[in-house]
Amino acid sequence: MSVTVLVGAQFGDEGKGKIVDYLASDMDMVVRFQGGDNAGHTVVNEKGVFKLHLVPCGIFKDGCKALANTGMVINPDELLKELSEISSQNVDTGNMFISSRAVILMPYHIELDSLGEKTGISIGTTKRGIGYAYADRSRRTALRFEDLLDLDYCRTRIAKIMGGINAELRAKGGKTFTEEEIYDKCVFWAEKLASRIVEPVSFVNNAINKNENILFEGQLGAMKDIDLGIYPYVTSSNPVAAYAAVSSGFPISKIDEIVGVMKAFTSAVGDGPFPTEMEGAEADGFRGDGKNVDDEFGARTGRARRLGWLDLPIIKFAATINGFTKIAVCKIDKLDTYNEIKICVGYKLNGKEIDYMPTSRDLYKVEPIYRTMKGWKTDTTKIRRYEDLPDEVKDYISLIETYVGVKVGYIGVGPAREDIIVR
Ligand code: GDP
Ligand code: IMO
Ligand code: MG
Repeated sequence: MSVTVLVGAQFGDEGKGKIVDYLASDMDMVVRFQGGDNAGHTVVNEKGVFKLHLVPCGIFKDGCKALANTGMVINPDELLKELSEISSQNVDTGNMFISSRAVILMPYHIELDSLGEKTGISIGTTKRGIGYAYADRSRRTALRFEDLLDLDYCRTRIAKIMGGINAELRAKGGKTFTEEEIYDKCVFWAEKLASRIVEPVSFVNNAINKNENILFEGQLGAMKDIDLGIYPYVTSSNPVAAYAAVSSGFPISKIDEIVGVMKAFTSAVGDGPFPTEMEGAEADGFRGDGKNVDDEFGARTGRARRLGWLDLPIIKFAATINGFTKIAVCKIDKLDTYNEIKICVGYKLNGKEIDYMPTSRDLYKVEPIYRTMKGWKTDTTKIRRYEDLPDEVKDYISLIETYVGVKVGYIGVGPAREDIIVR
């Protein structure tokens, strides 16, 4: 039996979808435990090319349960759309389940997010309503999937909350919603989704007690954690491994493996500090033109990603707050053509080297300390054994391991499931 939690080690989009899809072959269940459809997890396998937003990337393995769990904020319309899209590509979605305790992300959350992004509080969100759904969870005015199982109760909840929601929408100049239209949506969602709703704490703990192999799939990455990331340019949940146990309601001691997924360089979407960010043509070299599945454009919003050299203090910080037992390094192949590769190995703040991760206020001011390594100038995309990698790649991997103090167990050399070296 094993419980594995997989999380992003940077600013999101590290390649989590690809690694989850690879690891799912050994799993009985894959669980999303935070975030919503702000996620864009790319999977390329024998069934096709997919960008998953709410459905866990274990859905492709026959017999593997996929659970959208407590801790998530789920837009039912987006979930239905995604389920219909993937089933039209011959993927069996019969094993997809939803936690009764997960929050329903409503149309008014999206409206409020869009209004927020038009004002001075804009941080470059995905405009999917994420922050506003979590705000409603915190102020106890959210509806949850359990409410779809008792529509009379659901109607009373809607009647209690809509006054406040509409007052906020009106104050911000947004579109308001009637109680009836929200209730009608709930009736529709109940009809389509009720059979998938499960009591999540027993669902997960029974699987753990039955010695099943379970993989928890994180969304986003450490630097966008609401508490420990680059506040306020963060998401509204905790994309850290411990939160898998907190939101699912199982003891943290049950976690056996924590996999941190990182890119061989750095990317970010949205505003906020980014110490190793590149400009212009240098960034375009990493980004591509958008024609290939692995070009650097957001899998959710299509926005051009901000790009930079690998920032090891970020990976070390992510390892510290998560407790990685293994690292997966994706996109090594994207460095194949470089003569020289720069890696940030520290920060200076006000001229002095620091040994901690500063918050946004100071992270904007840090000066990265770079080490330059010789590039390998070799096509790595067909290599499948670690021994066959050029020495320069091994040096790059070894620098990551030494700096972070965690073994690199997986190396990605292309977007598809089989483009991976396992050590
Ligand atoms: P996620 O949000 O962490 O699941 O990552 P995304 O799917 O948003 O972004 C990762 C991108 O990198 C996608 O376009 C993947 O197809 C691609 N990718 C993942 N691993 C590799 C790799 O090892 N090599 C290459 N070339 N592309 C990869
Ligand atoms: P995956 O799971 C990259 C970013 C947004 C914005 C901030 C807050 O594919 O790695 P939100 O909509 O969550 O309120 O936006 O977080 N963001 C992501 N960036 N990958 C993601 O998901 C992201 N989800 C949110 O761009 O900066
Ligand atoms: Mg993504």
